[in-house]
Amino acid sequence: MQIEKELEARGQSHLLRWQGELNDAQRGRLNRQIEEIDWDILESIQTPESLQWGDIRPITGLSLAQTEENRAEYFSAGKSALQAGKLVAVLLAGGQGTRLGSSAPKGVYDIGVTRPLYIFEQLIENLKTVCKSCETTVPLLIMTSEKNDGETRAFFEEHGYFGYPKAYVRFFVQAMAPCVDLHGKILLEAKDRLAVSPNGNGGWYQSLKRAGLHRDPLLAHAEWFNVFAVDNVLQHIADPVFLGATILSGRKSGAKVVRKTRPEEKVGVLCLEDGLPSVIEYYEISERLANLRGEDGNLVYSYGVILNYLFHAETLEKIASAKIPVHAAKKKIPYLNDRGETVLPETENGYKFETLILDLIKLMGSCLPCEVEREKEFAPIKNKTGVDSVDSARELLKKNGVKL
Ligand code: UTP
Repeated sequence: MQIEKELEARGQSHLLRWQGELNDAQRGRLNRQIEEIDWDILESIQTPESLQWGDIRPITGLSLAQTEENRAEYFSAGKSALQAGKLVAVLLAGGQGTRLGSSAPKGVYDIGVTRPLYIFEQLIENLKTVCKSCETTVPLLIMTSEKNDGETRAFFEEHGYFGYPKAYVRFFVQAMAPCVDLHGKILLEAKDRLAVSPNGNGGWYQSLKRAGLHRDPLLAHAEWFNVFAVDNVLQHIADPVFLGATILSGRKSGAKVVRKTRPEEKVGVLCLEDGLPSVIEYYEISERLANLRGEDGNLVYSYGVILNYLFHAETLEKIASAKIPVHAAKKKIPYLNDRGETVLPETENGYKFETLILDLIKLMGSCLPCEVEREKEFAPIKNKTGVDSVDSARELLKKNGVKL
């Protein structure tokens, strides 16, 4: 009764239209899904057209040369923090990897040539290198989604965590968001199931807390979270130099950035917006800002983010209840039509909702951009071939001495 009223008030009564055909278990499952809907997400939606930007300015950061000059000092500060258990690494692996075209979790993708080499494996190797050089073990949290959690855990088990101590690894599942049609009606995937998708990577901290991990003894000394994407196989995780530099800067977050070389390059850029750190996505930046050059001839907005961030834990906790924008993306979403048939649409028929981690940076209040060498640290795998693909990542891995 309660559910019926709620849905009626929100114009979503159609979700119960197949109730008469469901058995108790199915009805229970649908009701649970409906009860878990985060209605807020449907009410704080932003589309690129509705975005209002504040006053945009360049942000100061550490250049490669500055990092080099202070490397020993940063390394030492970072290493001490790592050894004291102050850093927790968070691997974001809840995405659907639609561009790669595999329904399996992205991390289980084999990028090897003469031997199997899985994306997860390469990331663990990168982390093991740091642990060895700093003589410590870094806690690793892996965020999955309902769609890939079982498979991801089983994969790590099957491969013995690629030699990483299992006691230092935890998994947690991110929340899902309902998908709607072009008129805002929530779609059904089956008579007893809503169409849902992972709610984006911006909710990682809430999901971590929902799983109770903030109370886990493994996080007892956590002061910093290093959050990174699954798809960059050259990812430097728990980088002591990055950590040390960020701690010593006094800023509340840090972002690894690569220098944008071309105005049209598809990376978000870090800047200041009304005095706060902010990331403008490549599809949101105006042509004027993207092309703006300084007296030295270089692009003014050239700090391209590579989804490797540091977050100060205490600050994160303070902003945990703040609302972060929800982004709507038009997608082709399979759904159940009025006749109860499953439709696989050929054109975009609805919206998926996501919160983005880059929106957290602004809430953190300050951020240190740390420039890194693209060729050494940025090999994203988004597509099967071409730009940011398995092929391009293989080339870069080879250049960095990884045997494929
Ligand atoms: P992307 O934005 O590249 O999305 O994610 P994706 O889902 O992996 O790939 P496409 O767009 O469908 O092809 C960047 C990082 O954020 C994680 C991804 O796993 C990746 O590490 N992510 C994304 C999540 O953990 N949850 C999400 O809901 C979305």
